[in-house]
Amino acid sequence: MSKFVRVAGTAAALLFAASPAGAQGVVNVYCSVQVEWCQAAATEFEKATRIKVNMTQKGSGEVLAQIRAEAQNPRGDVWFGGTGDPHLILADDGLSEPYDSPLLAQLHPWAIRQHEIAKKRSVGVYSGAVGFGFNRELLARKSLAAPTCWADLVKPEYKGEVQMANPNSSGTAYVVIATLIQIMGEEQAFGYLKQLHPNINAYARAGTGPIKAVARGETGVSISFVHDATTEANAGFPVGYSTPCEGTGFEIGSMSIIKGSRNMANARRFYDWALTPEAQKLGFDVAKQMQMPSNKAAPLPQGAPDLTKIKLVDYDFVKFGQAAERKRLLERWDREIGSLAR
Ligand code: G6P
Repeated sequence: MSKFVRVAGTAAALLFAASPAGAQGVVNVYCSVQVEWCQAAATEFEKATRIKVNMTQKGSGEVLAQIRAEAQNPRGDVWFGGTGDPHLILADDGLSEPYDSPLLAQLHPWAIRQHEIAKKRSVGVYSGAVGFGFNRELLARKSLAAPTCWADLVKPEYKGEVQMANPNSSGTAYVVIATLIQIMGEEQAFGYLKQLHPNINAYARAGTGPIKAVARGETGVSISFVHDATTEANAGFPVGYSTPCEGTGFEIGSMSIIKGSRNMANARRFYDWALTPEAQKLGFDVAKQMQMPSNKAAPLPQGAPDLTKIKLVDYDFVKFGQAAERKRLLERWDREIGSLAR
């Protein structure tokens, strides 16, 4: 008996030791930016509030699938980051909570527009444009020019040299498909993706997979967010980027509170905190991420791509943020592109 008490006492002491002294509860965050930023956000939010953060990093398409699967028994409280379309789709499904943060007034109009389209169920945290990343040394060794137009990528000299992500798991790849449709029309866009297929050496799971492969010299070219190319270049890799001459699409990286959150007060505190200039600066200061922050008082990181200087399409977030439209486009991609022989 005394032995049992001793063991039970030890276990209780361990449990107590595992939670920070004076912890104010928890918040479960699904995070779709790069893991370094997710970690920095967890650490700093815990420091500021003493609320413990359970952080899980996954791609935008994967988090959407997880929240849908958990709809009857929600385990997450906040979805932080990731491309805006799947956040709109979550809102369209009714699986996120409407919320008016007091910080809204501090945000750029494009971030507030995300809140309006989502009927208050999501908000913009950052923005970034799609383009091409490339490994300068690898391209020089193979005597290949860096691509500057969508039309370049399908040229036979890039056979097996290009990487993009899989749009089922990656929000980045979904933005790429939506972009091509908005530039060319849907039939031509799928024709283009078919033509591109022999040049693709892999459809990576994560949106940043292709640019990391470029940095490591495993592929010459990637279709990526250009801010992720600058992050790799700043880390010392021979990486450059260009934005397509025909124009390109962009993301409103977003945040949502998950419907049925069991820690609603903490979810709102995290949400408000993530919209402050201090929290948004962490993306660059700590995690070296180069997106454009949504709080007007948070500066564009030095050397970050300037969206006002990039030829952007008038991205139709309403259309591409609909659940039925995403389902239809992904099924078409699986049928016509994903299942093609390699
Ligand atoms: C990277 C980018 C983000 C983007 C995210 C999407 O982290 O830096 O700007 O929102 O990828 O990830 P996914 O895996 O869904 O394409």
